[in-house]
Amino acid sequence: MDLIQRPRRLRGSETLRKMVRETRIDKSSLIYPLFVKEGTGIEEEIPSMEGQYRYSVDRLPYELERLQKAGVSSIMLFGIPDHKDEVGSGAYDEYGIVQKALREARRQFPDLYYITDVCMCEYTSHGHCGVLCGHEVENDATLDLLAKTALSHVEAGADMVAPSDMMDGRVRAIRECLDKAGHKETPIMSYAVKYASAFYGPFRDAAGSAPSFGDRKSYQMDYHNRREGMKEALTDIEEGADIIMIKPAMSYLDMVSEVSKATNVPIAAYSVSGEYAMVKAAAKMGWIDEEKIVCEMAASAYRAGVNIYLTYYAKELARFIDEGR
Ligand code: PBG
Ligand code: ZN
Repeated sequence: MDLIQRPRRLRGSETLRKMVRETRIDKSSLIYPLFVKEGTGIEEEIPSMEGQYRYSVDRLPYELERLQKAGVSSIMLFGIPDHKDEVGSGAYDEYGIVQKALREARRQFPDLYYITDVCMCEYTSHGHCGVLCGHEVENDATLDLLAKTALSHVEAGADMVAPSDMMDGRVRAIRECLDKAGHKETPIMSYAVKYASAFYGPFRDAAGSAPSFGDRKSYQMDYHNRREGMKEALTDIEEGADIIMIKPAMSYLDMVSEVSKATNVPIAAYSVSGEYAMVKAAAKMGWIDEEKIVCEMAASAYRAGVNIYLTYYAKELARFIDEGR
């Protein structure tokens, strides 16, 4: 056979395959999502997310130390408050759970990078991501509270804020509020392309943030839509978003590819709780090879164009990277 191109030539050995590899993952691009909870001495495993825990503030440093040792230096914090109300006041309370956790974490591990999820759903009695008027989530009335929440996170020590509520205009509202308070250099990572997804199920168990009625389809995106995702990304960039996130990751890599090609900001993807739970469950059954699946999922996200990857497997992935997997 006189074949000119033989793609297999470059697959002949591990050394050669690694040499010609197009996608390399750096530990510094990983972000680990972490749940903090009121109380003391708490380190409780989340039933639908085996291997993931809720920590009280006093136990949080032990996990931060493990992360630092693993070489994972960025954290996305989620708060689980004791009290909820109609307007989610725990979200913007100076002594709220995230604010307390930030101050303690900063004191003990000042070199880690702290990002906070900015949303109302963990703090509202009805579990929606904004304030209600009747049974509707009121967009404009929510903006002020989101901005207050973001500001209180930054004042408690957050390095970056990440609004995940999907209200229109929240990036602008947060940017204006932070700027006015003198935090002009604090970046915003917007959960811009966030779909109404069943993949968030385990998270809502973990955070106790499932809506008490209805669903999130009036604010999170319809997963049938691609062009609308671009509209969300471009709108948020115009409003001042520094980083655009696509969420979930695995079933939405078309959006990662598209948004990364059409914009010039760093792109993040969040491999969400349902993705984690599926891999864990199948691995536990012995039906898949957990390590290989985790590496393959991560590589596919980077191949699609992510610069930043949020994953509950961050520590394991960091180890796989160290071991040259
Ligand atoms: C809060 C928020 C959610 C997630 C991140 N921020 C839940 C939701 O929108 O219902 C999901 C994360 C995950 O599933 O791992 N709005
Ligand atoms: Zn929410």
